[in-house]
Amino acid sequence: MISNSLQDNEIRPVVSLRRVSRTYGEGSGAVIALDGVSVDIRTGDFTAVMGPSGSGKSTLMNVAAGLDDVSEGDVVLGGAVLSQLGDDARTRLRRSQVGFVFQAFNLVPTLSVDENILLPFELAGRRVGAEERQWIDHLVHTLGLADRVTHRPSELSGGQQQRVAIARALASRPAVIFADEPTGNLDSRSSREVLTLLRTAAREYGQSIVMVSHDPVAASYADRILVIADGRLVGDHGPLSPQQIADLLIGFEVGAA
Ligand SMILES: Nc1ncnc2c1ncn2[C@@H]1O[C@H](COP(=O)(O)OP(=O)(O)OP(=O)(O)O)[C@@H](O)[C@H]1O
Ligand SMILES: [Mg+2]
Repeated sequence: MISNSLQDNEIRPVVSLRRVSRTYGEGSGAVIALDGVSVDIRTGDFTAVMGPSGSGKSTLMNVAAGLDDVSEGDVVLGGAVLSQLGDDARTRLRRSQVGFVFQAFNLVPTLSVDENILLPFELAGRRVGAEERQWIDHLVHTLGLADRVTHRPSELSGGQQQRVAIARALASRPAVIFADEPTGNLDSRSSREVLTLLRTAAREYGQSIVMVSHDPVAASYADRILVIADGRLVGDHGPLSPQQIADLLIGFEVGAA
């Protein structure tokens, strides 16, 4: 039983990059962080972005999410060409369509865990419905945060803070979640839980997720693996095992940090 909206979603990618380049600095000191990247991020996919340090993964994520400007090309997010929007419209689009998980959590220190998770609703001026409240409670339980909801971020471990950031990103079911090394600070058990939750959100709820990771085990949870080297898209693969991913990356790791 496939609804029309699902079929539409399958046709329309959640984010498209069209010949996107991003250069930092000018003249002889210029760095080409992205060099003519074209890719469609498919709706409902859990997409991993891999590549050596400095290859342009975070830059790709930042321009795709509208946090950073492109130097050339276009990013289409939620049907809008980002470079054609003013700052306010872009911020509104980002708040309604995009969730983020950064390596440095970005939690608000003066708010409790619960308040941090509800922040995207607050910013978007949205009430939390009964069904959303259930989803949030499910996330809080799955992520092992149930007995921490009234705590402040400073009272949590690094791994717990990261799980709050993940709950916050998933809570409002944005069109797409961008996660930059979301399991970088977690132990292997917490990592597995977080990755399983991300994969479940994609499979069962059609949540589109783009995850930057160095870790072949993390990327093995993804539906699709994009490989970036020197600012270019050099690989686009279906699901692979950790060993297959490690083998794939060997050729690109020369000169990596
Ligand atoms: N704001 C900036 N100003 C100048 N150069 C930048 C800036 N941001 C990134 N770069 C450069 O662009 C290139 C790509 O950086 P990016 O952060 O996207 O790499 P990455 O693949 O995310 O690396 P890592 O795995 O280490 O996080 C690098 O050479 C980096 O030094
Ligand atoms: Mg990075």
